[in-house]
Amino acid sequence: MKTSWPTRFAENVKNFQGYPIGKTLQYLTDPEIISLAGGLPSPEVFQRSQMRQASAAALDANIDRVMQYSPIPGEATLVDAVLAFLERDAIRIGHENIVITSGGQAGLDLTGRLLLNPGDTVMVDRPTFAGAVVAFQMQRPRFIGVDIEDDGSDVVGMRVQLEQLAGRGELPKFIYVVPDFQNPSGITMSLAKREALLDLSYEFDMPIVEDSPYRDLRYRGENIPALFSLDQQSEGGHVIGIYTFSKLFCPGMRVGFNIGPAEVVTRMTHIKEGSILNTPKWNQDMCTAFLSDRDLDQHLESCRSYYREKLDVFLETMAEHFPPETGVTWTVPEGGLFLWVSVPAHIDTAKLFFDAIEHKVAFVPGEQFYGENPEHNHMRINFSFVSKEDLAEAVRRLADCVKKKI
Ligand SMILES: Cc1ncc(COP(=O)(O)O)c(C=O)c1O
Repeated sequence: MKTSWPTRFAENVKNFQGYPIGKTLQYLTDPEIISLAGGLPSPEVFQRSQMRQASAAALDANIDRVMQYSPIPGEATLVDAVLAFLERDAIRIGHENIVITSGGQAGLDLTGRLLLNPGDTVMVDRPTFAGAVVAFQMQRPRFIGVDIEDDGSDVVGMRVQLEQLAGRGELPKFIYVVPDFQNPSGITMSLAKREALLDLSYEFDMPIVEDSPYRDLRYRGENIPALFSLDQQSEGGHVIGIYTFSKLFCPGMRVGFNIGPAEVVTRMTHIKEGSILNTPKWNQDMCTAFLSDRDLDQHLESCRSYYREKLDVFLETMAEHFPPETGVTWTVPEGGLFLWVSVPAHIDTAKLFFDAIEHKVAFVPGEQFYGENPEHNHMRINFSFVSKEDLAEAVRRLADCVKKKI
């Protein structure tokens, strides 16, 4: 008798479709297409020779340990380097507050698995990072959206929702935010809103999950303290931080870390034990070398000036091709890799995507970035990957395509 596998699938994954962006990217096989869809850092800023040296040095130093299992919370040398990295950002924690992960997505998965039961509520921005929705979805929570404004989450609207949810005994397990140069919108949360969000967290006993892959990629404006450090200066213990080196070093390394109260991190380490055991020591050693290198600041500075130029090319070409009467608007990020373009409400960007492909340009339809009740007239644009020339050409193609629908 033939086994029917779908009838055996666990409830948590029966209707789980994975990452929608992957399905978008499958249409981009034509090399003529200029894709602003992926979230890739540019290979132009990859430190190839440093990577080769770090890799060889890791093997030379102790090949037997590299080939062996290694501690689940992470290599002590990497943890020390990360603690020093965080001190630059006024975050002071100990070894008991950190678990090394295999990248930000793994950090989100650990968080969802630790905190969510089916039917629990998670508060997210509208729009929010699609990868977080996918990671948390595995536990089948309910998402409640809060609009994002030019200076971050609408904390006033959030209070109204929290009061209603408290009345029904349905307060969120946590709120998930990307305060710095959010993926997908590029928006940064102001200091006033960070403080207001923490106040809500204290008042309603709602922990905050702060996802920070882009904090060091600021191209303009003043650094704003991380929610984690603001919380440390106040009540403390309300924030889980999720970090990755994918955008600062390279995604192929798959190294990141989660920080938080010791009781949270210990449990995350237990979950990691049940899934991947350790993050490869080889990768961790390469990351340690990257962090301990005297040129780290110089590397970050060169990433910033490289991406700043690309962002400016994109913004200038958008202003040329989309005058105000087109009704097309876009965010102006101070850092990160993304921005958010909004077209008149009658245009559905999921359909426009296929017209764009005909025009040999691609973006991610905005509807993929909502936990619930998606809006349909936005697109996420990545400006970090393609060359400056291609960026300008991509905007021209996009303008040709969008103007036919206005
Ligand atoms: C906000 C956010 N969190 C997490 C991740 C995942 O990071 P990683 O690529 O290290 O898994 C990304 C990647 O794009 C991201 O934008």
